[in-house]
This record gives sequence, structure tokens and C-alpha cells, in this order.
Amino acid sequence: MTMRSALTALLLLAATACSREPARSPMPPAPTVPDIHSFARPAEARVTHVALDLQADFTARVLRGTATLSLARAAGAKEVVLDTRGLKVRGVTDEAGQPLTHRLEPEVTYLGQALVVTLPPQGDRVTVQYETSPDAAALQWLTPAQTAGKVHPYLYSQGQAILTRTWIPTQDSPGIRQTYEATIRAPRPLRVVMSAEMTTPDGVEAADGHRAFRFRMDQPVPPYLIAIAAGDIAFRSLGPRTGVYTEPAVLDSAAHELVDLEKMVAAAESLGGPYQWGRYDVLVLPPSFPFGGMENPRLTFATPTILAGDRSLVSLLAHELAHSWSGNLVTNATWGDFWLNEGVTTYFENRIMEALYGKDRALMLAALGRAEVLRDMKDMPPADTALVLDLANRDPDEGMNQVAYEKGAALLHTIEQAVGRDRFDPWLRGYFNRHAFTSITSQEFATDLRQELIRGDAALEARIALPSWLEQPGMPAVAAVPQSPAFTQVDAQVARFTGGSAASALEVGGWTTQQWQHFLEALRTTPLSPARLRDLDATFGLGASGNSEVLFGWLRIAVARQYDPALPALEHFLTAQGRRKFLRPLYDDLMQSPWGQPHARRIYAAARPGYHTVAAQTIDGIVK
Ligand code: BES
Ligand code: ZN
Repeated sequence: MTMRSALTALLLLAATACSREPARSPMPPAPTVPDIHSFARPAEARVTHVALDLQADFTARVLRGTATLSLARAAGAKEVVLDTRGLKVRGVTDEAGQPLTHRLEPEVTYLGQALVVTLPPQGDRVTVQYETSPDAAALQWLTPAQTAGKVHPYLYSQGQAILTRTWIPTQDSPGIRQTYEATIRAPRPLRVVMSAEMTTPDGVEAADGHRAFRFRMDQPVPPYLIAIAAGDIAFRSLGPRTGVYTEPAVLDSAAHELVDLEKMVAAAESLGGPYQWGRYDVLVLPPSFPFGGMENPRLTFATPTILAGDRSLVSLLAHELAHSWSGNLVTNATWGDFWLNEGVTTYFENRIMEALYGKDRALMLAALGRAEVLRDMKDMPPADTALVLDLANRDPDEGMNQVAYEKGAALLHTIEQAVGRDRFDPWLRGYFNRHAFTSITSQEFATDLRQELIRGDAALEARIALPSWLEQPGMPAVAAVPQSPAFTQVDAQVARFTGGSAASALEVGGWTTQQWQHFLEALRTTPLSPARLRDLDATFGLGASGNSEVLFGWLRIAVARQYDPALPALEHFLTAQGRRKFLRPLYDDLMQSPWGQPHARRIYAAARPGYHTVAAQTIDGIVK
């Protein structure tokens, strides 16, 4: 850790100790390693602050306006290189409004185009006049029909991993942290929200029936965390620093589901140290949102498919909240270090769940995760099952998989068990503090672990076996294995059902959603006749379940057994929501058989226009 980042961390700690509002940051640190997914040359000139002034045009489906970038220039730097993809660049000017020479380099697949700006001899600010493309990959423009309210259009962004460059011309690398501010104009009565402090929550009057909303993020964040949404969005407070934003029609159910949010923040703080971002709000999006959740700072974006009615799927919020430490405070320096974001977060998520809902629930979640990654690993190229990924010549979106999450989390569980929580917890909290507001590599993680926890203890080093995690394929032999007693109980019922017992004879009283998930996954690979499937569905109402995870588990069984009566429910599920985690396996399974293929093609043809580009791109590769 550099002197500067040490000082930054200290200042931030001092500042957060006396106020609840986030601390201001001095100059964001320079990146430590090159990023193959960015054209930027940050050692020459790097972006330290982005100021957006944009208007949302729902008719043309574009954002239009300016991005003014503040730069840290090395002596003699003559150019600044920005990442763009599909942007129409109208011009670039200096602080005095004088045009600057610039060129867009040839397009590179998924990386986009470098925008090279010739810098004037003096000055550390450039302004880009631009407009996004109507098919910008980060943005989804929804018609009123695709919203809950059905009256107003909606817009939201998804920046991770390298999509921010499709709506902001900046240096789009997780190692180049930037503060930001924005003025966004949208037509009345839409409200705009961003992953930043909202300084004008109700907007201010602007020309042509628009309102302008202002935002500021004074803490340096990687650009994939700059996020926006605009729509008919209401707000309800859940606690002193937590609340939920969503469409008015969804507000009651969202507020009911998220009732524990404030408690979650408190539990997370007792493990990770003070929450550094001021408020923690959740935006529940329309159903096409392609992810479960996205950890946009101060404002997690979440799928409405977590609204089960019984709060059984809130581990997703524990996950996104945990990113406020692992990911947003301490960020992967490159996408090859993605596990540093997701693995540490998945571990942290599990600890939050344990603190709020007990050991049993946490063990079930960990066991589900481990089983899933072990299944996935079987079908993956071994090289992709090491934690450190080689993403050369690959779209990072394709290289990212469950390994980062579950093998990464297993590493932390393994370290925890090797040293005990008395030693592990202070180390983890120290790790967040030592690297706060910086972007680090897996190597820096290893160095921190060795210097601060292992400290030359050879037996401990061997017990953790770090290289087998970071560089070797598969799940290491030393991995801690979660043993869930609640699942042992489920296994007994699985055995009875596959042994011929009627569904009504099974002992399922009081089962949690996680137990149902485990039950259904166990049955997925068991041959069952249509009569047995009918018995299951009729007894437990699986196809009519309002719980997206239970319904998903059931539909996977139905597809595996080519069970026609489940087709209407399947079609509805694939059309009514666009979460990639649910879409991919179902389309994949359908395409495995001559029975499923025509269904996949028919359903996808109708559903595709409703999906976000991120999901559509994945499914395009499956349904042909
Ligand atoms: N940061 C991820 C989402 C993501 C990863 C977006 C990679 C783009 C590229 C987020 O925190 C996440 O992991 N979401 C999960 C849910 C979570 C509970 C495992 C998801 O969306 O399924
Ligand atoms: Zn995550």
C-alpha cells in the first residue's frame, strides 16, 4: 500500500468517525497494473473526475449532452485516451470552450473505440459533446408496457463489466477510480436516481417540461459503478439510512420484503467496519433487469424476482450490501481478479445472513453454492476454474462464472476455519481498511494475507494452500465443506420420493425455500414419469409458486423430463422476467432435446425484445 492510500484510508476513517455523510476524498490513486480491457494510458493522463450534463430523450432513446473530465497529467503528456463504444462524438473542447483535436480509433469487438484527445499545453479538463446510441449495451429503454405501472417509459443502466463506455466517454477500467457529479434532465413526471448522493431528490424545473436532477459522488469509484435509472419511481424509507425506490405499484411489496435492510447494514458493519457510503438504498427494477442485483454504490439495483412475499430470498441484498466493502471499497484491479469482488462478497454475504437469520440458514446457502459450483466446474475448461482468470482476447462478461463466487467464498471460509474467527475477523476488517478506496490485484491480496495473517507460519501456509486456489483448477482438497443438517433431512425425503412414496407422504412441514431448492435440484437428474411429476406439482403447487427460485427449480425438472403440462408456466416465466441466471439454464436445457428446441425458439422469439442486451447476447449464443 502506498503512502498516499495509507493517508487516504486514515483520513477517511477519521472523517467517518465523526459524521454519517461520506468522507471527501483527495486525488484518486493511480492504477497499479495494466488492464487489457481498456484503451486508456493512465500513466500519461488519467481521468479523476467525471461531470455529466445529459438529457434523456425517450423518443430517440438516447442520452445527449456533455461529459467534462478532470485529468491528472504526467509531465509532458500530450494525449488522453478514453474508452467509448457506439458513442456519437460531436466535439471535444478545453476549459475555455476551444475545440481540441481528437480521433476515434477503429472499433475492436466488445472493447469499442479509443477516443484519443490531443491535450493543450496547459489545462486539466476536457469536455466531450456526445450522444449515446439507441442500442447502447449498458442502457435499457423500456416501453410503458414493460413496466409495472404501464403508463410511463423507464430507463436503467448496467455498467459492469465494461459497458459504462457505451454511455459515458471515460477511462472504463476498474483500476481507474473517479469521483463524479451529474445533472440529468428527464421529462416530467419521471424521477431520475443515480448511484450517488441525490442533492435534488425532487428535481428542479427545466425547459420543455423537463426536470433536472443533480448528483454527486465524492468518493472515487471505478466507472462500472456509475449507474442511472429514470422512470415513475417512488421512495419509502426503511430506516435512518436505508430505503427502497421502485415503481408505485411495487412499493408496498418491496418495502415488506426489505424490512430487515437497516439491520443488515448494522450486521455488515460489525464485520466489515463502518459503512462508508452514507445511505444504503435499494432500487427494485422492472422484471427485465438481467441480474439478480448490482452493487451500485449507495443504491443497489435489484431484480423484482426477489419479492417472494416471505423474505426468503433476501440473501441477494446481503450480497449486494457486502459489496459496499468487497468490490466498492476494495475493488478488483482488473477483470481477471473478479473473484476479489465476488468471492469475498459471497463469503461476507454468508456472514451477514448468519448474523441475521442464524447458522442453519447460512449453512444451507453455503451448501447450495458449493453444490452449484461443483456441478458447473465439470463442464468448464479447467483453466477457467482457477480463481485468477486469463481473459486475454475475451469479453470479460464471458469469463465470469460461479467459480469466482463460490470457490472464492470457499477460500475465505477455509482461511476462517484454519485460524478461527478471533483472528480471521480482525484480519478481514483490516484488509478492507488497508485497501479502502483502492483497486488491488490477487497478488496484493496474497501479500496482505501473508503479511497480516499467515506471518510465516509454515503449517498455516500449507493448510490454506493459496496457490491451489489462485492458480490451480478445481476445488482444492483443503476446502472447507459446509455441512447442513437441514439438507440431510431433505435428502431423506428425496430418497423416499425416488423410492416410490407419494408426494403427500413426504415430511416437508416447515421447509424453507432453501430446502425446497435443494430438494428440487436433487430430483432434477432423477428420471420421473409424468404421473410422478403430476403428483409433485399437484401436491406442492410448484408450477404456481410465487417464489422465483422454487419455480425455477421445478421448471428445470419439467424441462429435463420433457413434461408438457409445465409449458405454460415455463413460457410465462421466460417472458415475464429477464434475469440471466434463470434464463440461461432453462434455454440451455430446452436446446438439449428435439422436444425442447422448438419451444425454446418460439418462446425466445417472443421474449427477446423484452430482454436487456446483456441477457439477449447470452441467449443468442444458446438458441439458434
Ligand atoms: N456484481 C454482480 C453482478 C455482475 C457480475 C454484473 C458481473 C456484471 C458482471 C452482482 O453483485 C451479483 O453477483 N449478482 C448476482 C446475485 C448474487 C446474489 C450472487 C446475480 O445477479 O445473480
Ligand atoms: Zn456480486
